[in-house]
Amino acid sequence: VEQRQIIVASNRGPVSFARNEAGQIEIRRGMGGLVTALTAALELCGGLWVASAMSEEDRERAARGRIELPGEGLEFGLRYLSFDPAAFDRFYNGISNRILWFLHHYLWETATMPRFDHDTGRAWEDYREVNEKFAAALAEEGDSMRSPPAYLVQDYHLSLVPAMLRRRRPGAHITHFSHTPFAGPNYFRILPRPIREELLAGLLGADVLGFQSSAWVENFLLSCRSLPGARVDLRRRSVAWEGRRVPVRVYPISIDPEQLKEEARSAAVQAARRRVTDWLGGARLVLRVDRAEPSKNILRGFLAFGAFLRRYPQWRRRVRFLALANPTRSALPEYRDYLDRCRDEVGRLNRELGEPGWEPIEFSLKDDHPRALAAYELYDVLVVNPVIDGMNLVAKEGPALNRTGGVLILSENAGAYDELGKYALGVNPFDVDATADAIAAALDMAPDERARRARNLRAALRRNRVDRWVTSQLKDLERVHS
Ligand code: ADP
Ligand code: F6P
Repeated sequence: VEQRQIIVASNRGPVSFARNEAGQIEIRRGMGGLVTALTAALELCGGLWVASAMSEEDRERAARGRIELPGEGLEFGLRYLSFDPAAFDRFYNGISNRILWFLHHYLWETATMPRFDHDTGRAWEDYREVNEKFAAALAEEGDSMRSPPAYLVQDYHLSLVPAMLRRRRPGAHITHFSHTPFAGPNYFRILPRPIREELLAGLLGADVLGFQSSAWVENFLLSCRSLPGARVDLRRRSVAWEGRRVPVRVYPISIDPEQLKEEARSAAVQAARRRVTDWLGGARLVLRVDRAEPSKNILRGFLAFGAFLRRYPQWRRRVRFLALANPTRSALPEYRDYLDRCRDEVGRLNRELGEPGWEPIEFSLKDDHPRALAAYELYDVLVVNPVIDGMNLVAKEGPALNRTGGVLILSENAGAYDELGKYALGVNPFDVDATADAIAAALDMAPDERARRARNLRAALRRNRVDRWVTSQLKDLERVHS
């Protein structure tokens, strides 16, 4: 049978346009795990990607119509949707980032935040409006295809799209996939009742719902138990809703190690490798790579490295910590404050623990993907300690590229822990001292044990091929409709 064409919908698109210092328009890869995974999926199946125009330059480009993106594999088209900038800000920052992201990552200090008020109501209307425009564009694009497509709707920005699209095209084939965790039922109830019910009902408009890990599936199902009219079957992992039975499944996202290796052969990565090697000056490398994001737990990572140097002074001068953070969501005061605290802590630790000719920590806040890939090849220890994370692709990319038998330290709250936990050193991300001990254990680990774990990590990556994520969703979608 011929594979159904797919239409992907997400807020963040695969590329974004920006003006460089010389004033020229440059095309850049979009940030984050969603883009990494979906680019691979569309190169396999071909099709169309509908995304938000997020910058002024995106909006200019959008006005000129569809963009064809030559991929490594099949070509696929990109259509940007443009919105009024103020309304888009309320949709993206007001609701998606400040409320839904914080909710699913447990980021509020609940003694003071969140506070829902008139502005929330206003922003929620914009959230609804943007979702409505996505649904309309998807319906229209689907109608112009030679046969009905499969719609793959992504993430918390577009929670209402499945139901809105279903209203327009009752027979449409729709999946929704969450790249984030899903909050537990008590925390989920922080949301005002009308909003949380609308969110759940929006998602349940899909034929199939996907998450990165069983834990998030269970949280979602438990939240649905308080939705009037929904009947949850925890054992079969499904929700009966409006005469349909919606399966809620795990589709762990993966990476393409071969393609990553290809990227790592570029001149830019080789040059970056020489620079990182010089910077190390013979010391061992402890590495982290993240979006500069509070849920990644960068601050506790620095505290843990400080604790490690105090508890294991024999490692002073023999190891350096490189933290590569890619700037993100800088419009949010919470993010700016968090990064200030990270910078202050790094300054404090370098003053306290540094010695002439040896600065223990470098914290780089810069979009520099080649340097990240180069550092993946070289690390002795990779610290991935998120507070909580849907999957975390850094935990997969690092072991795929590493050449030195590097050890992965992995938060028990990352979705990736399901697949990789056995071969990593697991940590409770809140336990700073335990993380410090894990760094020491990783550095002290015998070479054959390190090699064994590295081999097993690579084998685990090979077991979950990148195409499986999309093909198994499409298969489940066909099953629902057959
Ligand atoms: P999240 O989706 O929360 O950002 P992940 O760890 O799942 O977290 O994914 C991060 C992705 O972003 C990885 O594929 C990583 O290689 C990529 N990445 C990291 N730094 C950069 C950068 N400077 N430019 C583009 N992509 C980057
Ligand atoms: O994978 C999680 C994710 O939040 C994506 O949904 C998002 O596109 C990406 O990380 C980066 O965040 P943003 O799009 O807000 O820059």
